[in-house]
Amino acid sequence: MSNPVSYLSAQQQKRQPPEQKAVPGVKHMIAIASGKGGVGKSTTTTNLALALASTGARVGILDADLYGPSQPHMLGLKGMPDSPDGKILEPMIGHGIQTMSIGFLVDEEAPIIWRGPMITQALTRLMYETRWDNLDYLLVDMPPGTGDIHLTMAQRMPVSGAVIVTTPQDIALLDARKGLRMFEKVNVPVLGIIENMSIHICSNCGHQEHIFGQGGARRMASEAGTTLLGELPLDLGIRTGSDAGEPIMAAEPDGQIADAYRAIASQLTQMLPESGTAEKGVHKPPLPTIVMD
Ligand SMILES: Nc1ncnc2c1ncn2[C@@H]1O[C@H](COP(=O)(O)OP(=O)(O)O)[C@@H](O)[C@H]1O
Ligand SMILES: [Mg+2]
Ligand SMILES: [Zn+2]
Repeated sequence: MSNPVSYLSAQQQKRQPPEQKAVPGVKHMIAIASGKGGVGKSTTTTNLALALASTGARVGILDADLYGPSQPHMLGLKGMPDSPDGKILEPMIGHGIQTMSIGFLVDEEAPIIWRGPMITQALTRLMYETRWDNLDYLLVDMPPGTGDIHLTMAQRMPVSGAVIVTTPQDIALLDARKGLRMFEKVNVPVLGIIENMSIHICSNCGHQEHIFGQGGARRMASEAGTTLLGELPLDLGIRTGSDAGEPIMAAEPDGQIADAYRAIASQLTQMLPESGTAEKGVHKPPLPTIVMD
């Protein structure tokens, strides 16, 4: 048999993704992803950003859902970002969060049609041509699925870790599992799973109901050897808050739901290393050393 070590290395070398470029001004970059749309990624991203910021951290959001940007709306932001030199964009600030979204640059109502390389280019511009100001955390609000945007992010950008958002339905869990595997395949650490719309608490009588099923995300986390970071209720205030541009973390910072977001945020910060990864542009495992004898 020919030398198995050198064979493996050659294969791996071929599969090495393109160089990951550091993102200036960003310490940790966390992708918030899911398999399915409509499970609450964007809502969770906004509220987690505010939860992180409430501990004194400097936080930003990159809205990577180029097909359906929702951060401008959720953070109540209008208008165009400044660009003193006509190239680098200043992030817009909503509720103290530095934010960049394609939604600031194109008409919200106009459907955007992206072809092949355009999507990578647009994402790269938003990421690298925004003047992020000394961020501890940049949360990336991902589109649903496992498409081009995910691959570009995972291969070209120094993602510190991914968080998977799911609802308790079987179908959402199935798609969430796919999302999780994709990040594992491209060597992005999965930090954990958030179950959103986990339980409904009746605003009349306080009765609790598991409308979409129970325990699914917990099982999925334990099967995948990852953490269930938290369960968030199906709550009218969460919905109205994100629709009104006043996230519940800002509207009711002392409520139980705010506590739940803060508990998730605190777990996340503890999982990330002291020194940032995004600012250095590394997280790929090094190539194995080739030993010939
Ligand atoms: N925990 C929740 N309780 C009630 N409504 C929610 C909750 N999470 C999200 N929503 C609502 O569900 C809809 C989809 O959420 P969104 O964050 O846009 O999902 P995604 O980004 O995954 O497509 C929005 O109207 C949002 O307000
Ligand atoms: Mg979204
Ligand atoms: Zn009731």
